[in-house]
Amino acid sequence: MADKKATLKVDGVEESLELPVYEGTLGPDVIDVRSLTGKGLFTYDPGFMATAATESKITYIDGAAGVLLHRGYPIEQLAEKSDYLETCYLLLHGELPNKEEKEEFVSTIKNHTMVHEQLSHFFNGFRRDAHPMAIMCGVVGALSAFYHDSLDIHDENHRVISAHRLIAKMPTLAAMVYKYSIGQPFMFPRNELSYGENFLHMMFNTPCEEKKISPILAKAMDRIFLLHADHEQNASTSTVRLAGSTGANPFACIASGIAALWGPAHGGANEAVLKMLNEIGDESNIDTFIAKAKDKDDPFRLMGFGHRVYKNFDPRAKVMKQTCDEVLAELGMEDDPLLKIAMKLEKIATEDEYFIKRGLYPNVDFYSGIILKAIGIPTEMFTVIFATGRTPGWIAHWNEMISSDYRIGRPRQLYTGHKKRDYPA
Ligand code: SDX
Repeated sequence: MADKKATLKVDGVEESLELPVYEGTLGPDVIDVRSLTGKGLFTYDPGFMATAATESKITYIDGAAGVLLHRGYPIEQLAEKSDYLETCYLLLHGELPNKEEKEEFVSTIKNHTMVHEQLSHFFNGFRRDAHPMAIMCGVVGALSAFYHDSLDIHDENHRVISAHRLIAKMPTLAAMVYKYSIGQPFMFPRNELSYGENFLHMMFNTPCEEKKISPILAKAMDRIFLLHADHEQNASTSTVRLAGSTGANPFACIASGIAALWGPAHGGANEAVLKMLNEIGDESNIDTFIAKAKDKDDPFRLMGFGHRVYKNFDPRAKVMKQTCDEVLAELGMEDDPLLKIAMKLEKIATEDEYFIKRGLYPNVDFYSGIILKAIGIPTEMFTVIFATGRTPGWIAHWNEMISSDYRIGRPRQLYTGHKKRDYPA
């Protein structure tokens, strides 16, 4: 596979080291550094800024060009022409489904949306005001206690049924988390409804009244899930891969991904954006917050801005902004004050040298929260929505790794602690 070579000269190592260089179909070449351990050397790359931890065929991101491809298809085209479950199939299987394959996949997912009745008892151990992500970590991990019939990760059929169960049950569990927090009974999924419709049905309908779900809001929900479906080797996906490399079962691995996603620097940013916009409160305060974001002595950062990979624009943010306009128009909320603050903030920040120089632009989290709030979803639920949408990506990467010649992930370190010393006599 080595197309080229890199030569490394290291002080103290007599001969030059020749390292294989591999060329992908897209993106930077990679230098295979595995032979360095034999020379008593490690590479050093905190935060994995320049490290390819794996080979993958699922998603490609070009941060400078603002490109996001799922199995080669641009996110803008999938958002316009595909839907969430079709994109799930694409991520899992590598190709778009034909008509029969799509119908079978959608039917399979619909027939796995219910959760075991015993699982509903897990919720009673949580306080009603527990953070929804805390409950999601618990109940998704607990799924592994219910599927002893399909936890052999080396059995392809077990991997497929686990993928179907996770994609099908995440919205059911997410809605249960919300219902539990407001003291309403859990709503059963309805097989005649589409994925986005079903989620909103389980979130907002009650046994006393089942309102028809707005097709525009159902489509917006479907698109929000689609825009979050996968994103290459981000922190939570890398967590799922690392957990999976130990042989842990898929439900435990996805629970580890949910835990990693919770952080405000990652999936928790959508919740943090809404809290920031509410804290700004009025357009007249924007300059103060911009100054805080630029102040090195102030830990405050502009939530929803910046990205490890995108240094131009996040293509998902553009589609999310279009969806935001559609939803607010549908709800007659075009004058939403938070949207006005967000748009003014985006304008000021993207014209400010500090943000331009550092390639800081709105990311996927900047507008999603405004849509979710408009739909009636509480802020604390935003990252649960993100986790639900990201599930096919997590499980596709887990499956890609388990299907390959993988090894347990075990990074090394630069040790700067004490040398060997004896316990005082
Ligand atoms: C997601 O990886 C993925 O793909 C993630 C994701 C996915 O789909 O899985 O895309 C989802 O996590 C999107 C990001 C959501 N997070 C936020 O919106 C939180 C705010 N953003 C920052 O915390 C930050 O931008 C990160 C964490 C997103 C990226 O951090 P990096 O790549 O480590 O960048 P950095 O911290 O090294 O910042 C580079 C410079 C620094 O200034 P200098 O030291 O060079 O002077 O930019 C500054 C930072 O201080 N900076 C910001 C900033 N983000 C970076 N300054 C103010 N506000 C910000 N938001």
